Amino acid sequence: MLVTNLCGVELRNPTILASGILGVTKESVNRIGNLGAGAVTLKSLCHEVRTGNPNPTMFADKSVFMNAVGLPGQGIDNAVKDFKILDNLSVPVIGSIYGYKIEQFGQVTKKMASLKPALIEVDISCPHLDYGKPYDADPKLAAEVTKIVKKNAGKIPISIKLSPNVHDIKEIAHAAERAGADAITAINTVTAMVIDIDAKKPILANKMGGMSGPALKPIAVRCVYEIYETVKIPIIGTGGVTYGKDAIEMVMAGSTGVGIGSGIYYRGLNIFKKVCKEMRDWMKKNKVKNLNEIRGIAHK
Ligand SMILES: Cc1cc2nc3c(=O)[nH]c(=O)nc-3n(C[C@H](O)[C@H](O)[C@H](O)COP(=O)(O)O)c2cc1C
Repeated sequence: MLVTNLCGVELRNPTILASGILGVTKESVNRIGNLGAGAVTLKSLCHEVRTGNPNPTMFADKSVFMNAVGLPGQGIDNAVKDFKILDNLSVPVIGSIYGYKIEQFGQVTKKMASLKPALIEVDISCPHLDYGKPYDADPKLAAEVTKIVKKNAGKIPISIKLSPNVHDIKEIAHAAERAGADAITAINTVTAMVIDIDAKKPILANKMGGMSGPALKPIAVRCVYEIYETVKIPIIGTGGVTYGKDAIEMVMAGSTGVGIGSGIYYRGLNIFKKVCKEMRDWMKKNKVKNLNEIRGIAHK
């Protein structure tokens, strides 16, 4: 009922652990796989080890999850040593990569591809050193990154992960598709701030952070809807998915895969099984046999 084909990779269901939340070791990947996710995305990796930002780096309330962790990570070389291979784990694995400079995207991709992930996701939201503005906000730069990643990924499909912090997400998605992307992941977090009114200063040490969680969902749904009208490649809709009804909404907007990150904070590690059960219950009640019947249906 929920089986989903994403760029030729068969997922038992469309739920995918989003990057940055737990996908850091073989054990955590297998654990999330055993807990029912259809696929697991690794924490984004670049060419070097990064310690990330000083604490506090996170804040959450009932609808908002904020983080400014600052992409801490073991670096691609250590990940290659740790994981050795990714195609023998309990679930298909999506390797997430980024670079500061365009060439680094290519170099990190090549190393990630040697691990044989099911897909490579490219986080283009990181500010970079070449031009002084993020790749995610400029269609030409997004296309350059896509081309170099595609060239280094071999036969592994690539998904470009877009940021909502742009004037027109459609033109970035279009540029990525034309440059050879096999899929689009949408969205990363929205730039935001929370202030402690007693301390009279921002709660996060970094002052600003990225907002995810339930409050992000309408923005993510809007982005997926717009991208679906612009490109033909599949979309991994991510942002605020917490319940089965949110996942159904994402599919109706045009998603093939459905990313889940902050939802773990709100519903626990069993969220993948819970969301899938809620999706199946809704489908049975509404006599929907498979997700193809409702994918993009909100556009009609
Ligand atoms: C603590 C934290 C760390 C994250 N790290 C990454 C990351 O390394 N790479 C990336 O592409 N996105 C990262 N994200 C963004 C998520 O993958 C996802 O796009 C976003 O949180 C929206 O989905 P959600 O509302 O289901 O969490 C991170 C999010 C959180 C909350």
